[in-house]
Amino acid sequence: MSATIMSGKLLADEMTNEMQNDVNKLKEKGITPGLVVLLVGEDPASQTYVKNKEKRALALGFHSLIKRYPADITEEELLNEVKQYNEDPLFHGILVQLPLPKHIDSDKIVNAIDSVKDVDGFHPVNMGKLFIGKPDKIPCTPYGIMKMLERYKVEIEGKTAVVIGRSNIVGKPIAQLLMMKNATVTMAHSKTKDLAALARTADILVVAIGKGHFVTKEFIKPGAAVIDVGMNRDENGKLIGDVKSDEVAEVAGYLTPVPKGVGPMTITMLLYQTIESANKLAALLED
Ligand code: GUN
Repeated sequence: MSATIMSGKLLADEMTNEMQNDVNKLKEKGITPGLVVLLVGEDPASQTYVKNKEKRALALGFHSLIKRYPADITEEELLNEVKQYNEDPLFHGILVQLPLPKHIDSDKIVNAIDSVKDVDGFHPVNMGKLFIGKPDKIPCTPYGIMKMLERYKVEIEGKTAVVIGRSNIVGKPIAQLLMMKNATVTMAHSKTKDLAALARTADILVVAIGKGHFVTKEFIKPGAAVIDVGMNRDENGKLIGDVKSDEVAEVAGYLTPVPKGVGPMTITMLLYQTIESANKLAALLED
């Protein structure tokens, strides 16, 4: 048996085509979706992420701005920048690229973003709404994973899901989203005993632990849907996932590749939520 490869790239392209129509309609009403990315310092991985976001935003005809700050900007100065963009009607989405330098409290900065413009879905208000089952903005990686499961018609209701990794931006929200679709969800993490045996109970296995090729075929129930959120570099600098994809593909029913899996969907959902924010504004203006 060989797994169906769930292409995030393909779905991202499909969704982007649909989103182009939405952008065109907004522009007819005189509104251009605007996204500002605040980037502090020179971290090379962050530079790459941010450039990809800008490229995709510009391709859709967004008003897109990367605002760069030196690594020694103070917390107060950055807070003031965020507040300024909260008030700026040209921008419907604000994203502060993480991680921030150590002298800045990221929580404080994220909390300062107007939750209406929090297209990353990281603000406590948006997190809170998600966890009471009334989501508004949703963290983009888990949101993209749900779109992929839907697109590939992976059944969720009544299924057993195991999520490996308990971060606020992937593990916890994907567990909640799967639970909202009536999966029975177990969260696993670095202290979980006999992880492979637990993972083998999963019809849906989400892996977000940041350890290259950690999940082998011993972790996989035959036919399972396996979502690989990992973005690691091997010894040759090649991008690899958390899942040993060659051997896992022989056992799993579905598998997301790395690259071209979850990654392209994360940016797509970011742009999707920015368009949603702009649409809300358009509706308010029409009232
Ligand atoms: N750093 C790495 N991924 C992300 C992301 O999705 N959003 C933000 N704000 N920072 C990141």
